[in-house]
Amino acid sequence: MTALQNASSLLDPVPQLDLAAQYAAIGAEIRTAVERVLASQQFILGSEGAAFEQEIAQLCGVAHGVGVASGTDALILALRACGVQAGDEVVIPPFTFVATGSAISALGAKPVFADIRPDTYNIDPSDLARRVTNKTKAIIAVHLYGLACDMDPIVNFARAHNLRVIEDNAQSIGASYKGRRAGSLGDAACMSFYPTKNLGAYGDAGMVATNSNDAAARLRTLRNHGQSAKYVSSEPGWNSRLDEIQAAILRVKLRHLPEWQRARQGHAAAYTKLLLGIPGVMPPLIPEGYDHVFHQYTIRVERRDALMKFLSERKIGCSVYYPVPLHLQPLYASLGHKAGDFPHAERAAQEVLSLPMFPELRPEQVTRVAEAVAEFVTH
Ligand SMILES: Cc1ncc(COP(=O)(O)O)c(C=O)c1O
Repeated sequence: MTALQNASSLLDPVPQLDLAAQYAAIGAEIRTAVERVLASQQFILGSEGAAFEQEIAQLCGVAHGVGVASGTDALILALRACGVQAGDEVVIPPFTFVATGSAISALGAKPVFADIRPDTYNIDPSDLARRVTNKTKAIIAVHLYGLACDMDPIVNFARAHNLRVIEDNAQSIGASYKGRRAGSLGDAACMSFYPTKNLGAYGDAGMVATNSNDAAARLRTLRNHGQSAKYVSSEPGWNSRLDEIQAAILRVKLRHLPEWQRARQGHAAAYTKLLLGIPGVMPPLIPEGYDHVFHQYTIRVERRDALMKFLSERKIGCSVYYPVPLHLQPLYASLGHKAGDFPHAERAAQEVLSLPMFPELRPEQVTRVAEAVAEFVTH
C-alpha cells in the first residue's frame, strides 16, 4: 500500500456495526439453510426450531429453550410463566432498553426501579431491599452490554423474599458469571435475536431458557394461543413463535458464535489497552470471575455529546445506549419519578458511549477509534 492509499484508507468510515461484513463471510451457509426450509415447506414449529431450542438450552446450561417471536415476547411470556399478573410489582434497573419495562406494563403490572452500579451499569443488589413491597413478585436482572449482573446476592435476596428472578439476557448470550452461563442464573432467561445482537436473526426472534419443566410447558402453551392440545385452549395466549427460517439462520450463526465472541473480546482488550490511563475515559470493567461478551464496548466520558460529534466528524460510528432512563421516560410519567431519583442511572445515561464493536472490526480501525477518543479528551 502506498503512503497515499494508506492515508486515504485511514479516513474510511468505521461503522459502529457492519452486518454486511458478516453476511459476506457466511452468506453461502445461510442460503443453504434457508433453501432447506423452503424445500421442506414447514415454516412454523418444525424441526429447525426444535433443534435450535435444544442448542440454546445447551449453550445456557439449562434443560429447556422455548422459541418465541422476539425478546420482548420472551419477557412478557416469562413474566406470565413466573405468575406475574396485573397489579403486581417487578423490580428492574431504570438503565435498560424500554422493553424490559414495557413487558411488565403489558401485563398491567408495575415496574419498580432499583438503581445501577456505576462501575458495571447493572442493577445494584444492595438497592433491592428498599424497593420491595408486599406486591413485589419478581426481579428482572438485565445483563447489559454483554456483562452478567452480580447474580448471587440478587438470587439470595429473591429466595429470602419469595420472589422470582428473570434474566433479561438480550445482550449477553454466551456470557458467564462465576463459571455459570448467563441464561442459567435465575428462574427463566430471555434472549433476543434482534438482527444487531451478538446472535442476530434476519428478522425478529427470541427465546426463553429455563430449568423448570412446568415453566417450559406453560411457555409452550402461552406462545401458541394457550392451546394445551390442538384446538383446545386452556387460557388466553399469544401467537408468538420463532419461525423455521429464522431458526435455520440462527443455527448457522450459532456455530460461529464462539469465534465471533473471541473476536469481540480481542477488540475490547485492544481498545482497553489503548484507552486505559487516558484521563477522563473509563473503559468497561470486567469484574473477576466474569466473562464479558462485549455486545457493546461502552466507555464513560464527561463531555460525551461533544465526543460523539467529534467522532462522527471523523466518520466513526458510535451510539448511546440509553440516553433516557426508564423512570424519566414519558411512558412512565404517571409513576411520578423526577430527576435525581436514580443518580447512577441518570449519570450513566449522560456519560456512556458505545464505540464500534463487531467481530469483523480490523485492528487498525480499533486503533483509529481509540486514537480519536484520546485526541478529543487530551485537547
Ligand atoms: C436489554 C433488552 N431487553 C429487551 C430487548 C427486546 O428484544 P426484542 O427487540 O427482540 O423484542 C432488547 C433488544 O432489543 C434489549 O436490548
